Amino acid sequence: MRWLYGRVIGRWCSVRFSRKIGHGGAVRGQLITTPIFYVNAAPHLGHVYSAVLGDTLHRHTGLCGEESGLSTGTDEHGIKVQQAAAALGLNPPELCSRVSQQFRTMFDTMGISYTDFVRTTEPRHSRAVCHFWKTLEERGYIYKGTYQGWYCTSDEAFLSEEQTTEKTNSNGDKIRVSVESGHQVHWMSEENYMFRLSSLRPNLLKWLQTDPIHPAPFLRIVQKWLEEDLPDLSVSRQSNRVSWGIPVPSDPTHTIYVWLDALINYLTVAKYPDPSCSPWGPSTHLLGKDILRFHAVYWPAFLLAAGLPPPAKLFIHSHWTCQGVKMSKSLQNVIDPTECIGLYGRDGFRYFLLRNGSPERDCDFNHNSVRNLLNASLADALGGLLNRSTAPSMNPEQCWPCYQCTSVPISVKDQLETLLGALQGLPQLVDQYMTTFQVHKALEAIDGGVRSSNAFLQSQAPWKLSKGTEEDQAWGRCVLYLTLEALRLYGTLLQPAVPGLAKTILDRLGVGHDYRTLKGNPFFAATRGENCGFQGQKLGPDCGLLYHRLLDKEEQGLCKDQTQNGNRCT
Ligand code: MSP
Repeated sequence: MRWLYGRVIGRWCSVRFSRKIGHGGAVRGQLITTPIFYVNAAPHLGHVYSAVLGDTLHRHTGLCGEESGLSTGTDEHGIKVQQAAAALGLNPPELCSRVSQQFRTMFDTMGISYTDFVRTTEPRHSRAVCHFWKTLEERGYIYKGTYQGWYCTSDEAFLSEEQTTEKTNSNGDKIRVSVESGHQVHWMSEENYMFRLSSLRPNLLKWLQTDPIHPAPFLRIVQKWLEEDLPDLSVSRQSNRVSWGIPVPSDPTHTIYVWLDALINYLTVAKYPDPSCSPWGPSTHLLGKDILRFHAVYWPAFLLAAGLPPPAKLFIHSHWTCQGVKMSKSLQNVIDPTECIGLYGRDGFRYFLLRNGSPERDCDFNHNSVRNLLNASLADALGGLLNRSTAPSMNPEQCWPCYQCTSVPISVKDQLETLLGALQGLPQLVDQYMTTFQVHKALEAIDGGVRSSNAFLQSQAPWKLSKGTEEDQAWGRCVLYLTLEALRLYGTLLQPAVPGLAKTILDRLGVGHDYRTLKGNPFFAATRGENCGFQGQKLGPDCGLLYHRLLDKEEQGLCKDQTQNGNRCT
C-alpha cells in the first residue's frame, strides 16, 4: 500500500506538477471534483459557489492547454433524504429525481462545464461502492462491533463527547448539539460494521506531509484532529432504521453509511473498479469547510485502506452568510440563485461569488455589495475600457492599429515599461493564484490591470493625439494598440470566471479561437519588435455595452421595470 501511494503521487508530482507551478498548486491532467449535493432541498447560493469554483479551476486548466475532468452530482441516500421524501408524501426515488434535475438545470444555467454528473442512485455507483466495500473487507479493515455515541442526523455524522455541547432550545428544553454545526444530536447504541480508522493514523500523518490541504489554516485543523483520539468509525446503519441506501453486500440487514457511499462518487466517475478505463489518479477535491473532516480524515483513510492513492489536493472554501449566519435551508435564510441570475446575469453573479468569496473567511451576501462591485469592475472599469477603445469616434477604421517602438515618446518610456512589465507578468500571476486556489486574488489582479490600462489611456488621451502632429498620431495609434492588446489579455484570462463576458470582449476584438488560450499565445509581441498578427486586422461587430450599470433603489424608482442584462434592477 505504501509503495503504491508513494509511486502514484510521486509520479504525478514530478512530471506534471512541481516542474510547472511549484509547491502547493493544483495537480493538472486530473480530476477536479465538487462535492455531490444533498437532494433534500433545492440548490442555494452556497451550493452554486462550490460548483462555480470547480468550474473556474477546470476551465483555467483548459485555458493553459492541459486536460482535466470536472465532476459534480447529487448525494441521494440516507435518512435525511428518506425523511424529506416522507414529509412531502413522495417516495425517495421521486424526490431524488426531481431535486437532482434541479441541480443539473441550475448548473447548466450557471455554465458549469462538468464532464460527469453522478447520482449515487445510479447502478454504476452501487457497483463501485460494493466493490470498494468488499475490498475493505478483504484487506481486513471492516469488523462487526457495537457503536455507542452521539449521532447527528442533519450532518449524518458520528460525534465524540467533545464535539457536542448542551444548549437550550426555543421551548426551553435542554438539548445536545454538535459544536461545529449547531444541529441536534442523539445518543445511539447499535451493532454496526466498523472501519479500522484508528490504525491509519500514521498513514494519514504521512499523507499530510505532501501538503494536500489548502489554505493552510485548514491543514492545521486536520493536523490537530489527528493528534486527538481517532476512534474506529461506524460504516453501516441497521436497515430497519435507514433503508434508503446501498445494502452491505454480504449482509442486507445493514445499509452502508451514507458518507462512505457518497465519497466513493469520486471513484465512480473515475470508472472504478475498472482500472483499464481510467485509473484513479490525482484528484483535486473542492469542498466547503463544513465537510472537511469527511474529506480530510475519512476519505484518505478509506482510500489508503483500499490500497488506492489518497487525494492529491483538497481545496477548502468558507461559507456564505446572511447577516452573519451561515446560509442553510434549515435556517431558511438562503439566497435563491435563480433570483441572482435574474438580477445580475449569469456572469455578473459568477464574478461576484468568485471575487468576493474567500477560502479563508466567511463572506456576507448582500445586494448592495454585489451592485457596487459589478458596477465598479464590470460596467465602469472593464466595460468602459472596451467601449472607449473600440468606439467609432476613437477608432473610425474599426481596426487594430500598428505599433512602432520608435513612436514611444521618451517622457513615457518608464511609465510604459512599468505597465508592460506588470501586464506581461499577469498570466503567470493569475495561473499561480488559480492553481493555489486563490481565485479571488486572480480576479483582483486582473481588475488591477484593467484599472492601470484605464489610467494609461486617460493619461495619454489618444483622442487628443489624433488631432496633433504626425508623431502624436503615431503614438496615439500605439496607445490604442496597447489598450486593445491589454483587453485581449483580460478577455483571455477572464474566460474561466466569466465565459460569456470574456467571449463578448474577444468577439468585439475580432480574436479568432486559436488566440483565446494561454498556451503559445504571446501578448504585446509588437512591443518587443516581434510580429503581432492582429495589427491591421478588423475588429469584430459592435457589442453594445459590455455590462449595464445596476441601479440602486433610488435610481430604480426613476426607471420602474427597466431591465438590465435581461435582469430586473435591484
Ligand atoms: N452531500 C454532502 C457532500 C458529499 S461529497 C462526497 C454535502 N452536501 S451539501 O449539499 O450539504 O453541501 C454541498 C456543498 O455546498 C458543500 O461544499 C458545502 O460546504 C457547500 N455549502 C452549503 N452551504 C454553504 C454556504 N452557505 N456557503 C458556502 N458553501 C456552502 O455536504
